[in-house]
Amino acid sequence: MNRRRIIMDVDTGSDDAVALMLACKSPELKLEAVTVGWGNRPVEDCVRNTLKVLHLVGRDDIPVYQGCPEAMVRYLNGKFVSSCHVVVDGVEHSIHPASFNIPAPDRGPEPQHAVSFLVEYLMKQSEKITVVSVGPPTNLGMAFRLQPAIKEHIEEVVFMGGSINRGNETPVAEANFCHDPEAAKIIIDSGVRCTLITLNATHSAEVTREDIEKFERLGTPEGRFTAELISIRLDAQVYLGFGDGKSDALHDALAIAYLVDPKVITDMRKLHCDIDIGRGAAYGMVIADQRGNARYEEINSQVSFNASRQKFVNMLLERFAGTDR
Ligand code: RIB
Ligand code: CA
Repeated sequence: MNRRRIIMDVDTGSDDAVALMLACKSPELKLEAVTVGWGNRPVEDCVRNTLKVLHLVGRDDIPVYQGCPEAMVRYLNGKFVSSCHVVVDGVEHSIHPASFNIPAPDRGPEPQHAVSFLVEYLMKQSEKITVVSVGPPTNLGMAFRLQPAIKEHIEEVVFMGGSINRGNETPVAEANFCHDPEAAKIIIDSGVRCTLITLNATHSAEVTREDIEKFERLGTPEGRFTAELISIRLDAQVYLGFGDGKSDALHDALAIAYLVDPKVITDMRKLHCDIDIGRGAAYGMVIADQRGNARYEEINSQVSFNASRQKFVNMLLERFAGTDR
């Protein structure tokens, strides 16, 4: 089988964890390295969580690189406050645990910084490789700034990022792009092939409370951990005030699912996209030109609008069911 080579840039994170497990359990993909940035938690927590997830799936051989601790520009004039955690009566409720309740491996991250790894590794590739960006895109944006020629070595950047006419971090901006809009813009403006797995798609394929038992019943480490993560997300939603506690998106996992089987995305459109960096109410918003008159050479992205929940959930259940891959 011709396995698609990928590097993942993550901020692990509950949904990043499911994405990492899906990538490791999918023979169609060859996960060669993981770079980690800030986002759902401080970068050190995200690194620790990433190492634990890879350990859970028996992939301590995949190198993990720690990257940027903060955005390029966005929070220079203010403080980043996460909307994913809230403290009520001294108890933290979060959709992204600081430290996953699974064993830690006997290793740490590689000594090299994630950004210099990305530049060095990409530049030496004779065949193009896909980069999957599922956190604030700071590491990849910095790599593009350091060495724009990495573009020639990238097959596609698949983002979990952006949204059309909706948002989660702000009314109009999705969290990953919202937290580092300049980085997202640098990458999209570079002309590299970009795919946006948006909130529109991820929320059309939500997992539900009923799914928890299905994952639990698989009886595998991946199944049980996914069940735990879904339940953590749904329980925390109620405190965070952004859901009904019945269903939620596993955003980042859909980006990997798309690479395993593009048909999981049922509405993908080729459009010209820009990212608002104007520091106003739309900061971090994707401006997708849907007028239908963008010249071919202006089209810089494919943007997902819808996904098949059935295909997505079945894929997770099948991949986490315990066959050796
Ligand atoms: O907006 C969803 C994204 O923000 C996901 O990548 C999630 O992990 C958080 O980083
Ligand atoms: Ca993420």
